[in-house]
Amino acid sequence: MLRVAIDGPGGTGKSTIAKAIAERFEIEYIDTGAMYRALGLKASKLCIDPDDEAAVKAMLDDTVIDFDSGRTMLDGEDVSGLIRTNEISMAASNYSKLAIVRAKVDEVSRHLAATKDVVMEGRDIGTTVIPDAEVKIFMTASPEIRARRRYNQLIEQGRDADYDTIYKEIQERDYQDSHREVSPLRQADDAAFLDSSDMTLEESIDAVAELVAAAL
Ligand code: DC
Repeated sequence: MLRVAIDGPGGTGKSTIAKAIAERFEIEYIDTGAMYRALGLKASKLCIDPDDEAAVKAMLDDTVIDFDSGRTMLDGEDVSGLIRTNEISMAASNYSKLAIVRAKVDEVSRHLAATKDVVMEGRDIGTTVIPDAEVKIFMTASPEIRARRRYNQLIEQGRDADYDTIYKEIQERDYQDSHREVSPLRQADDAAFLDSSDMTLEESIDAVAELVAAAL
């Protein structure tokens, strides 16, 4: 059994690295943030107050999240594109504070990891979701570098971007994700630490691949 847990704040390159690892080792890639984003999308569309636990619970009981060939499916609809906005990043972070929301995502995540080899990325995979994963990595990069990477990515896509706004949002989300009560973002004691600030993407992928190869 091979389970690779990659945790860290947004913009560290986790997704790209996890996808490359999935391809290299022919294992399944699971993006837990996409599930929080899908729930954030639905909750904000329905104008559900995060403090209204009964309403959040009713929504969760009536929601199915799944992945289909890498696409994020919310109640049977492909929401992969809709969940990649700044607004939904913040909504995901807001609703992910709730224990009942986390329980829902944990259930789907653990179910997916129970039957196949996976590389799973998120904030609490090594600490809470798969604490006994064969490989655990905590990735980070300075907020300035992460903001710069995100800025460049948006500009390359021909979209509007303002560095200062991106930087502020990154800091806000980092703070919220690492200060919540339930499963905050933190490095597991036995996770390898990787700071990608001064590394190219290729170097980061190779560093993670080395850890995976060593575990095999
Ligand atoms: O990785 P991401 O940017 O797509 O995640 C969006 C938000 O979801 C993030 O700000 C916090 C939340 N999240 C979480 O709380 N736990 C996870 N395992 C993954 C994401």
